[in-house]
Amino acid sequence: MKYHKPVMLDETLAHLKVVEEGKYIDMTLGDAGHTLEILKKGGKVLGIEINEDALRRAQARISEEGLEKNFTPCLGNFRDIDKLVNSTEFAKVNGILYDLGYSSYQLDETAIGLSFQSEAPLDMRLSKELGVTAADIVNSISEKNLANVIREYSDERFANRIAKAIVTNRDLKKIQTTKELAELIKSETPPDYEKGRIHPATRTFQALRILVNDEIGNLELSLPRAAQLLLPSGRMIVISFHSLEDRVVKQFGRGAQPQLIKVVEKPLEPEEQEVALNPRSRSAKMRIFEKA
Ligand SMILES: C[S@@+](CC[C@H](N)C(=O)[O-])C[C@H]1O[C@@H](n2cnc3c(N)ncnc32)[C@H](O)[C@@H]1O
Repeated sequence: MKYHKPVMLDETLAHLKVVEEGKYIDMTLGDAGHTLEILKKGGKVLGIEINEDALRRAQARISEEGLEKNFTPCLGNFRDIDKLVNSTEFAKVNGILYDLGYSSYQLDETAIGLSFQSEAPLDMRLSKELGVTAADIVNSISEKNLANVIREYSDERFANRIAKAIVTNRDLKKIQTTKELAELIKSETPPDYEKGRIHPATRTFQALRILVNDEIGNLELSLPRAAQLLLPSGRMIVISFHSLEDRVVKQFGRGAQPQLIKVVEKPLEPEEQEVALNPRSRSAKMRIFEKA
């Protein structure tokens, strides 16, 4: 089985300072890449995952490694962390990790339509409990709102042009799949878009994923709730992958939590060697906080 490569794993382990029998919350379990290493060091982990399929994969992987004894799986949204820890032994913990975004498996292989690279229904919901799909959004909201969402969540320069094309086309036929949307965006943007470095649909897809899954709202609510769970000297590590997320983490660290100390002033970034081996790590930024 091919698994997601954990990003900044060495840095995570070094800064979490895992101790035997210590308690840790992995807010974004994914393929359990980070969790497995915490378990191997003797830590106990509560693994939160919003996506049922991902949780099942992680549980199977942890069992295969014989490490299930100290692992507690939990299906849920990390925004509800204050409630999710109820009736568990993780109401006070030594460390918390967020590794935001999506796993390679989710981007490449699942049928939820997160990526423009594989054909799938334009859904993007990590959990079926979320009501609104990406198709609902592109086929219903006004041209102005669509342009605003694309611009605000992805800094897309051609947001107006893309929104106009979507609205014109959906009047003829609803946009239902990832490829339909990606092709439409490609046909409406200049052939030398970003000098060919990224596909013209990259930014619009990012914006839709953020909106459908309320990524920013989840993080804003979760960080202060999580901070309440840290034991003295407990650490919280947040790895983010785009500037909107990093801004939320930075602001959180700035003033909202006087009892938290910044362990590093500037976010850590992956070593060149890691980026060469795992290009998806290139935009990672790690911020680290410690409970006073
Ligand atoms: C980048 S992956 C984590 C990869 C993991 N650290 C590893 O090394 O295998 C992020 C995971 O967080 C999950 N996720 C995203 N938003 C979430 C949320 N609000 N609550 C819980 N899990 C979430 C995604 O479904 C995905 O599986």
